[in-house]
Amino acid sequence: MSSRGKYCVFLFLLKSILSDPGTSNQVVLLDTTTVLGELDWKTYPVNGWDAITEMDEQNRPIHTFQVCHVMEPNQNNWLRSGWIQRQAAQRVYVELRFTLRDCNSIPWVSGTCKETFNLFYLQTDGPLPDSTRFRPTDYAKVDTIAADESFTQTDLGDRVLRLNTEVREVGPITQKGFYLAFQDVGACIALVSVKVFYKRCPSTLRNLAAFPETVPQMDSSSLVEVRGSCVENAEERDTPKLYCGADGDWLVPLGRCVCSIGHEEMDGYCQACKPGSFKAYAGNTKCSKCPLHSSSHDQAATICHCDKGFYRALKDPTTMACTRPPSAPRNLVSLINDTALFLQWMPPSDTGGRKDITYNILCQRCGGSDSSGAVTQCEPCEPDLHFIPRPLGITGTSVAILDFAMLASYTFHVEAVNGVSGLGMTARSLANVTVTTHQAGPALVGVVRKDWASQNSIALSWSEVEKPPSDIVDYEVKYYEKEQEQLSYSSTRTKAPSVVVTGLRPSTVYVFHVRARTAAGYTAYSPNFEFTTAAEDPDIADQGQVLVVVTASVGGFSLLVILTLFLLITGRCQGYIKARMKSEEKRRTRFHSGHVPFSGIKTYVDPDTYEDPTQAVEEFAKEINPSYICIERVIGAGEFGEVCSGRLRVPGRMDISVAIKTLKGGYMDQQRRDFLREASIMGQFNNPNIIRLEGVVTKSRPIMIVVEYMENGALDSFLRARDGQFTVLQLVGMLRGIAVGMTYLSEMGYVHRDLAARNILVDESLVCKVSDFGMSRVLEDDTEAAYTATGGKIPIRWTAPEAIAYGKFSSASDVWSYGIVMWEVMSYGERPYWEMSNQDKAIVYQHQWAVL
Ligand code: ADE
Repeated sequence: MSSRGKYCVFLFLLKSILSDPGTSNQVVLLDTTTVLGELDWKTYPVNGWDAITEMDEQNRPIHTFQVCHVMEPNQNNWLRSGWIQRQAAQRVYVELRFTLRDCNSIPWVSGTCKETFNLFYLQTDGPLPDSTRFRPTDYAKVDTIAADESFTQTDLGDRVLRLNTEVREVGPITQKGFYLAFQDVGACIALVSVKVFYKRCPSTLRNLAAFPETVPQMDSSSLVEVRGSCVENAEERDTPKLYCGADGDWLVPLGRCVCSIGHEEMDGYCQACKPGSFKAYAGNTKCSKCPLHSSSHDQAATICHCDKGFYRALKDPTTMACTRPPSAPRNLVSLINDTALFLQWMPPSDTGGRKDITYNILCQRCGGSDSSGAVTQCEPCEPDLHFIPRPLGITGTSVAILDFAMLASYTFHVEAVNGVSGLGMTARSLANVTVTTHQAGPALVGVVRKDWASQNSIALSWSEVEKPPSDIVDYEVKYYEKEQEQLSYSSTRTKAPSVVVTGLRPSTVYVFHVRARTAAGYTAYSPNFEFTTAAEDPDIADQGQVLVVVTASVGGFSLLVILTLFLLITGRCQGYIKARMKSEEKRRTRFHSGHVPFSGIKTYVDPDTYEDPTQAVEEFAKEINPSYICIERVIGAGEFGEVCSGRLRVPGRMDISVAIKTLKGGYMDQQRRDFLREASIMGQFNNPNIIRLEGVVTKSRPIMIVVEYMENGALDSFLRARDGQFTVLQLVGMLRGIAVGMTYLSEMGYVHRDLAARNILVDESLVCKVSDFGMSRVLEDDTEAAYTATGGKIPIRWTAPEAIAYGKFSSASDVWSYGIVMWEVMSYGERPYWEMSNQDKAIVYQHQWAVL
């Protein structure tokens, strides 16, 4: 090699070493640019390759290997690396940087000069002994390496050598290490650097889960499923998973962890809540400041404790401020008339910070006299005192009290309570009032008679012993079972001086007494009278039951007959059916997109007619539990995210192969809607030539659309890869399938707008199915779609002239596209109109359209 050539090599070498960024998903097994000592590579024969080591400005060695026997025929020069340990690698990459002179630039070498060299490798479980003879046949060939660019032209017209970079995949490597070997067959090469590395997915943190460093699978299209473990102080929600792809990239994050109680997410980790804040539930929420009247003094508080004198009721959420019992009710007053006593008060000035305030009335009767005439102390009030609405738990600020005794002194305590009353050592919040009632009238009712008695009733009547002081309002009859000794009593009111008391037990003695109520209040009770109900007669009871059963059966049957006759006569059944049909028709016409179906097929419902597109997804697509989905490999990349293949394993159902479209993270709401739109369209179709929707995952991340898997992928690339391999009958069979699918769509009233071979998927039996639904996706995702003069984005070559010119898309324009697909199929995936530009195509259409 000339000295000028060598100079160029070093120039580039230095530049390239200094600019190598290095990547985190590569593990370097060998890099000749970083080896400080001798490389100790072997050459066979010894005078073939030349090892040159020079020093750079920092006194670091630069190892170069050169060979340039371009004038001599039959060259076979080998350069072999040292033994390279494979470590965790299953498949390694070799990056070569070299210059290669083009033979035209060297005079008199035609016939002997070459422009390629060969890369080989040999796997072994350890370094070979130095004495091992070099046998080229032991080495497996990786590839023949040629230069991309041998020379480049400078501004001055000089030609300078350019550094080439070539990367080759070597493997699978199954033994502990390997050698690389470079075979020169007569080229002029300078091998400037050799880097050997393997790819791995670096350890990473995602969704609060840690994923270990992972080496991709040997099969470069398979993904390695890796389960993450939650970071400290986090707990699992859905199992966190990532998939390690062949290029060392993490794909398709599933599941997540959330910070435990007392911790919040910060920079990908869970940090303890600071004093003065707390977090009561695990989740991705932040720590909250302690609510009013509470505090936390330690880190990682799960609750803030109430300050002294403040409390939390059992049902109070931890986010609520601590509260205290209310102060006493204010301005308690009493009012009394002849029959009722009223208490009224105002709410306490301090509610304790709560809204659940209620009042209890505590009653004491004080200062009466006993039988010996001595004044009694206070004692609990009579149990038959009647409080309206009730004595305890009053929500209003007043109460009425009935049935009080005359000439008695009552003290009422009105207690204000709230949810935290009674907690701690707090005093009761009471307001008091004392009321003295009027003199009770004498007993007006004398003798109470039994008029008749049955098993369950007794009829009573009575007369007044003397003229009442004022008009009698009504009578109160109080009674109880004698044997129960007043444990529980009942009462009834009547305006007449007689009553039939019902609901009694047979053969039972009852005690009755009666008092009158006048405008001046109650009189005293009459003396007690005892009466017995009639004995039970078993025969009569049985007959009664039979009668009830017969009446019920006859009645029920008659009702049935009458109802049936009524419905038949009035034609109600028909009416119902008609009404249902009408509403169904209404629904159809509302949603129908302009095409009347000519079979009994359902009509397509445009998801955009839903106010909330999520509703459309819920109606037309099944939600799949993401744990049923097992992602196996990435098969493509769509506009919204990766497309993967995998298995759908629904318990109790056969496993099926599926394609999974994912929506990558960080999407906007509109993108989510556009993405799921396709599912709400696809979910409405059920035809063997339309791609079948299995379901969607919307309740967890990532959002996915799961469809049946089509083994042969898109029809256009499938045909191109199998050029000339099918019979005409097979090709026509494919077209027939597409026609069946498209007929179905047009009967449903759905216009596809982007029918093209690239949007047809082919299964393992060559069945073709129409896919790619959703107009917005046509616009965004289809690389064939170009902007028209009117601003629309349209796949020009496949689109009917009226659709291009006026945007008039219809089943008829789909038929036009079908014609283009026919041409694509029969030509094995040729590009319609070959290289004619979209513009020219549009002009041709304009002409045709004008003629039509
Ligand atoms: N690419 C996109 N969807 C597919 C499917 N359903 N089957 C195979 N490959 C696909």
